[in-house]
Parts: sequence; C-alpha cells; structure tokens
Amino acid sequence: MSESTMTVRVARRTAEADDIVSFELASLDGRDLPAFDAGAHIDVHLPTGLVRQYSILSAPYEPSRYQIAVLREAESRGGSAGMHDAVREGDELRVSVPRNHFALASGAAKHVLLAGGIGLTPLLCMAQHLDRDGEAFELHYCARSRARAAFLERLANAPWAPRVQLHFDDEAEQQRLHLDTLLKDATPDTHLYVCGPQGFMNAVLDAARANAWPEHRLHYEFFAAPAVDTSCDGAFEVCLARSNKLVPIPADRTVTQALADAGVDIPVSCEQGICGTCITRVIDGEPEHRDLFLSPEEQARNDRFLPCCSRSKTSRLVLDL
Ligand code: FES
Repeated sequence: MSESTMTVRVARRTAEADDIVSFELASLDGRDLPAFDAGAHIDVHLPTGLVRQYSILSAPYEPSRYQIAVLREAESRGGSAGMHDAVREGDELRVSVPRNHFALASGAAKHVLLAGGIGLTPLLCMAQHLDRDGEAFELHYCARSRARAAFLERLANAPWAPRVQLHFDDEAEQQRLHLDTLLKDATPDTHLYVCGPQGFMNAVLDAARANAWPEHRLHYEFFAAPAVDTSCDGAFEVCLARSNKLVPIPADRTVTQALADAGVDIPVSCEQGICGTCITRVIDGEPEHRDLFLSPEEQARNDRFLPCCSRSKTSRLVLDL
C-alpha cells in the first residue's frame, strides 16, 4: 500500500435508484478518514484491477466515512459493472486519499450547482458544505425520470431543500431547466458548477459561454472521455528539458506510456484526460489537446498539457521534465 492509498471497508451498500448503488466507505480501525474539501474524488482500485474515480457525495464535516455512488453504465468498460457486481458490504477496498480538481470558488456571491444524473454526487457534497457555511447557492438536478434519480428523499429532507429544483425529462414542460434564463439572470459574481453526462455538460457550458460567462466562473468535472479516433495519429518526439534527453513517441503509444518505457514515470490516474493528475508543463512546441480537464483558454495557452491522452501538432514537444 503506497502512502497515497489506504484500505477501507464497505460499511454499507444501498440501492439508490435504477442502476445506481451507493457505497459508504469507512476506515478499518474506526478512526476518521483523511479530510477532504467539497468536490473531491477518490480513486477506487477495483477487485478486477481497474482504477476508477468517484466523487465523494457525503459532507466534508462527516469525516468517519466517504460515500460514493456508482451508475451502472450501459457500455461499462468494467468499472461500474465491477463495482455493482463484485463489491459487497464488508469487503475491503483500496482507495486513494481524496484529491480535488473541482473545488468551490472562494469569494463567490452565489454558487449555482447544475447536476445531470449521476453528476449529482460532487454537487451534493458541495450543497451540504455551502449550507453549513451559510453561503448562497441553488442546486438544479436534471434526470431522465424519478426512477433514475438518486437521493430524492435526501434532497427533500435536507435543511436546504428549498434551494433544490428538480427537472425530469419525462415530466411537464414547466419544470424543465431553462438554461438561458438561468444564465442570463445570474449576477456577475455568481459561479457555475456542472457535472453530468457529456451532452449535458456541453449544453450547459456552451450556453454559459454564449451568455458571455468568463471561464473563471465556470467549474466542471467530466466523468468519462468520449472515444477518440486515433487511426490518424502520427509519431513525434519529446525532449526532456532538464536532461536534454529525446524520447520518440510512436503513433500507437501515449506520451506517458512511451516515457514510462524510457524510464520516466509521470503519475497517472484516469488516463483519459479527465483528472489532471498527469498535467505537465510545455516549454516549446504545440500540443494537440485531447483532454477534458483544461478549459479552452488554458488549452490555447499551450503551456501545459495532459500527456496521458494529448499528442503534439509539432514534430517535437519540449517538456519541463
Ligand atoms: Fe488523468 Fe492524465 S491521468 S488526466
């Protein structure tokens, strides 16, 4: 077990909605788990050997447990199916300490939390934290139907229930989320947080940008990257600035894989350009960004890239390694 991982016990497993199961994870000795901030996630090492990231939905002020929820994906690559099929109450799991790439902004006058489906999880954690801190917020939860929406009872019974609005695809038009209205009416010091399926996130972020929301007020976290066509990928080379070493990156290897082959290890987690773990400074050359972690503005600066998935537009990339 490395210093950044620990073994926890599945204290409770609960069916929350169609295809959604939650897991409460507790320490083996009953002590509090490492602290975390709202929006944090943990890596879960599945019995199958896969590693998957799940947001913590329980409140940061409940240090005795991490609660996560897992939607069984129709096209699971083994992660969500492994959690549903192989993880039972009483099992031990190896997890990372919490990491946070989806933190709340400090100093915002108001926080608008927009959840699509299982994307509710980090936002549920944020809502509890914001309520405890007396901050202004509203939570919009969009789901295909009530049967597919988790935690409805918890939302209805929360002290902050009046700040929650539910939006179901199969219910009346007047309860639908009207993004343009919501985004137009927000004050300039409101921050937006969105998590959910890719189509939902793109719709929200596109609408926010169309309504002139600046990037620093948009906060988002993707779950899974869409498949990328790699059939036209070419080879290039990476120069490690600190040693001046040149490493060829073949067309069929990622930068992190090719560097690992050459004895240079960059820490990775999701390997899909989502989590930000592998972020690396670019000194020269132009990356071909394929991640969902950097904002379009950050990508345009070309001074950092995610080498687990991104490639290069130039024949050489010089990295701060
Ligand atoms: Fe997650 Fe690269 S490992 S972004």
